[in-house]
Amino acid sequence: MNSSTPRYSRIAGTGSYLPPRRVTNDDLAAQLAQRGLETSDAWIVERTGIRARHFAEPEVAASDLALHASLAALQSAGCTAADIDLIIVATSTPDMVFPSTATILQNKLGVHGCPAFDVQAVCSGFVYALTVADSMIRTGAARKALVVGSEVFSRILDFNDRTTCVLFGDGAGAVVLEASNEPGLVASELHADGRHLDILCTPGHVSGGAILGDPLLKMDGPAVFKLAVGVLEDVARSVLAKAGREASDIDFLIPHQANIRIMQSTARKLKLSADKVIVTVDEHGNTSAASIPLALDSAVRSGRIRRGDTLMLEGVGGGFTWGAVLLDF
Ligand code: UT7
Repeated sequence: MNSSTPRYSRIAGTGSYLPPRRVTNDDLAAQLAQRGLETSDAWIVERTGIRARHFAEPEVAASDLALHASLAALQSAGCTAADIDLIIVATSTPDMVFPSTATILQNKLGVHGCPAFDVQAVCSGFVYALTVADSMIRTGAARKALVVGSEVFSRILDFNDRTTCVLFGDGAGAVVLEASNEPGLVASELHADGRHLDILCTPGHVSGGAILGDPLLKMDGPAVFKLAVGVLEDVARSVLAKAGREASDIDFLIPHQANIRIMQSTARKLKLSADKVIVTVDEHGNTSAASIPLALDSAVRSGRIRRGDTLMLEGVGGGFTWGAVLLDF
């Protein structure tokens, strides 16, 4: 490490964006009833904590949501797109098969030349992307990165499957991560176990000009639930141990926003009180890779999270993938 190589990366600014169309549980229940499917606000709230989600209009792509979130993050960091030397977008609902949503975002930002690529780790995508950006900054490969989670999950929902279509929403969140000699990201850890790839997947793929296989999201909810509660506790403890910190040092836990019961279970296991958990699943639903940066930005903008707070970010999802990042904000 030479003298100009930074010891840390730190979040310089945050931003997020939700498409304007807010769909309540009652709206969805009415829509499903037309298909002969029964659901209710009461069931969805009790089992998941979700009350509403936002859906993008058909012509709006992940890069469009990412652009709004990125501009807000750049403004909050006090810089412009021209200052960015790395763009990473975490998404499972990219604009195209290729090129990456990151290069499309780069073009929409009006900048050219810096590396830009997508990370595909489903709901763990943002934690993966943040860890990759942190590593690149600490090796000197980048100094100011734009790290985005952006999803239009409404595109891959099966509205004939009430067990999944009520759970997800669209949105984007972004951070500017910059080189720093002060923490910053303190520790992180990523995992994957491909043995469980079937419990949460969108198996269809393009071949010979046609889609082969089912292009809509499939999930064995209870199986995902069971794995999620186990790995989220383990990875949080492991990251704390790496950092030489205790769970009591965490000011706010920002878990992937999939289900309030999973979040509460993780908090209980770490002996964190409910007021230390950032919850946006009620208003956003599960926005996959966007959920953590969306929750982070909303808590920063509401003044709940302040500079100096210690945050634990935790992702879990398809793959099966999971990971956590501990940082001093
Ligand atoms: O983002 C990646 C990570 N994803 C997650 O973390 C999701 C993890 N899983 C979950 O959050 C939960 O498993 C779900 C919310 C998906 C489901 O909750 P659950 O408490 O595990 O319910 P269940 O799947 O065991 O279903 C219970 C009952 C079933 O009826 P029977 O068989 O008991 O008669 C379902 O058919 O609820 C029924 N059900 C519904 N009822 C009304 C399933 N979906 C609905 C619905 N409305 N939308």
